[in-house]
Amino acid sequence: MKFKKFVPVVFIVFFSINIFSSSIAQQKSIDAKVDSVLKLMTLDEKIGQMNQYNGDWEATGPITNDGDKQNQIRKGMVGSMLNVTGVEHTRLLQQMAMQSRMKIPLLFGQDIIHGYRTIFPIPLAEAASWDLFAIEKSARVAAVEASAVGVHWTFAPMVDIARDPRWGRVMEGAGEDPFLGSAIAKARVQGFQRNGLGNTDAVMACAKHFAAYGAAVGGRDYNAVDMSLRQLHEIYLPPFKAALDAGAATFMNSFNDLNGVPATGNKYLQRDLLKGQWKFKGFVVSDWGSVREMINHGYSKNNYEAAMHATNAGSDMDMESRSYIQNLKQLVKDKKVTVAVIDDAVKRILKKKFEMGLFDDPYKFSNIAREQQQFNNAAHLQASQTMAEKSIVLLKNNNQLLPLSKQIKNIALIGPFVKAVRDNLGFWSYSWPDDTARVVTLYQGIQNKVSSTTKLLYAKGCDIDDQNKNGFEEALTAAKDADVIIMSMGEASNWSGEAKSRSNIHLPGVQEELIKAMQATGKPVVVLINAGRPLIFNWTADNVPAILYTWWLGTKAGDAIANVLFGDYNPSAKLPMSFPRTEGQIPIYYNHYNTGRPAANDSDVNYVSAYIDLPNSPKFCFGYGLSYTSFNYSAITLNKTKLKTNEKLEATIIITNTGNYDGEEVVQLYIRDMVASVVRPVKELKGFQKIFLKKGESKTVKFIITVDDLKFYNNELKYAAESGAFKIFIGTSSAEVKEVGFIFDK
Ligand code: NOJ
Repeated sequence: MKFKKFVPVVFIVFFSINIFSSSIAQQKSIDAKVDSVLKLMTLDEKIGQMNQYNGDWEATGPITNDGDKQNQIRKGMVGSMLNVTGVEHTRLLQQMAMQSRMKIPLLFGQDIIHGYRTIFPIPLAEAASWDLFAIEKSARVAAVEASAVGVHWTFAPMVDIARDPRWGRVMEGAGEDPFLGSAIAKARVQGFQRNGLGNTDAVMACAKHFAAYGAAVGGRDYNAVDMSLRQLHEIYLPPFKAALDAGAATFMNSFNDLNGVPATGNKYLQRDLLKGQWKFKGFVVSDWGSVREMINHGYSKNNYEAAMHATNAGSDMDMESRSYIQNLKQLVKDKKVTVAVIDDAVKRILKKKFEMGLFDDPYKFSNIAREQQQFNNAAHLQASQTMAEKSIVLLKNNNQLLPLSKQIKNIALIGPFVKAVRDNLGFWSYSWPDDTARVVTLYQGIQNKVSSTTKLLYAKGCDIDDQNKNGFEEALTAAKDADVIIMSMGEASNWSGEAKSRSNIHLPGVQEELIKAMQATGKPVVVLINAGRPLIFNWTADNVPAILYTWWLGTKAGDAIANVLFGDYNPSAKLPMSFPRTEGQIPIYYNHYNTGRPAANDSDVNYVSAYIDLPNSPKFCFGYGLSYTSFNYSAITLNKTKLKTNEKLEATIIITNTGNYDGEEVVQLYIRDMVASVVRPVKELKGFQKIFLKKGESKTVKFIITVDDLKFYNNELKYAAESGAFKIFIGTSSAEVKEVGFIFDK
């Protein structure tokens, strides 16, 4: 549905407020400016600032009622809109806001999750790069493009830790680890807000979903979360804190309850922790309808109570529940919500509008020239391709099947995604009318790469999720004449994302049977797996010689994959999540506890903590990923074996490129506290370095360990290190490491 064309109406100015242009006001600090605006606002107008509506162009959730938004904007009853993009649309609505008595500009928010016009790999794929510079760049490009069409605010980064690949939203985050997740949260916030709010190419970041949304029971989206505060602080909160420390302008709360209290109405999370202890100065937006949903949770009797619970708990802006706009005035009258609480929320929102420079120029982001300029930005496309190459994980490469020669005579290209277009963009991406021309499919990417005499023999083979094997024959015919078979398999791109939880995460339909049929030809087979989450494909993993995990890689997917397949880029990515052998192993994560009866190895099932029908280890572990070259790790040397508070421990290791290609390696540092007042994980990531080594080259990699790396939350939730024995592990994955011990003695 489109907005009706805007028709100017006669507007009565009740009294003139020209504080924005006065030079005195400009010299005041932003806080003072906020106060001076707030003083002039009626209660209705204040509540209006706390109200956010969806635009009429796109909806990313259920619309509760389609009121008269335009009039409400003109009356100053709306503080922000989401899903309104394009200079034309944002200008139109901003003009309406400028007709309101206070002329407070609207904030336009949108889910810019992995690119806007130029689509980058899904965030989980980017996390696999462990390349913070590239990840920051990806967010930067997104900010430049989104801000050029009038968007002020992205609902990203999603920093939820995810240990359950059934949960569809794992595609949106950085995986299972709090350390990696924190580093990536920081990179993304910096990318979005680089050079500070107020620059026309910076958008406000929004750390979401606060908190513990990723721990939904059973991996089912929107589900309940019950966890100890220790686990919350140790595993789920660090990326939020990192986003805050990086300057994230806003936070979004979440759909789940946490230990019985919905996050949206959770005072501990929002008021005590975030705004209290952490001193967050930005504002908190609810998730879509999450205020009203507290009725369904059984936490609020009605919408009136939901608004009361949410505001008092610290949710400053109501996204699409209409709870605030309909109830806050009455709640104030009834003395259930104080004006001070409302003022605090409004001040936080106004402050961001000032920081963004919107009071100086409400249209500053809606500039047609910039919009056009960013519409086809070649540098952005190149950045997207680079990011995509860095995100591809080489899972297997027996007998150095990869990289392939560009001179191969015949290549069979088999599978449901070989010619897929839109799928490459993944969930949370925008479709453009020219997608077919712009997105590089796998087929095109390979065609662009191989010699002019190479023949591509294409057969789809099967659908994504179908029992029909009629296409096998055509695939076998193509394979018969091929020198190598490349298969593009996986789950549909809209099978991961919001509300896309799956109980069965095996390769769907007859895909694995098609892989078996291809493998049975005796020809070399390379399988590419496209997905928004870790999938299960045990037969393929055990039998096919070469496997690349290609996620969803964005606009330049095909070129990026071809560069890896044919050796123009040597893969360097490492898994940011554990890959289970079956769904029965979920939740599965590397930083688990040892238990009182740890299994000695994968076949040890003798009254130990193990499955009798399955190894404990994942199919592919956290931090795993191969290269076309090989790396040798020396033993670890320490500068001392006893560490005291205020001292630094240096752990040094020599890495040598022992293979035949130049390549990058992610050197990972883990620690283990051997005995403590609460049990500690068998390994915790505490550092990583991505290094480049020329063929035959050696490099010394040094990690500095301080007392901060040894700290954890004890049973009183005190964050401190305890004296005792520790282990350091340095390696190429969470499982393949060198180790050495040291003592920490306060
Ligand atoms: C609901 C999602 O949970 C959230 O991440 C998103 O930002 C909003 N919808 C707006 O689309």
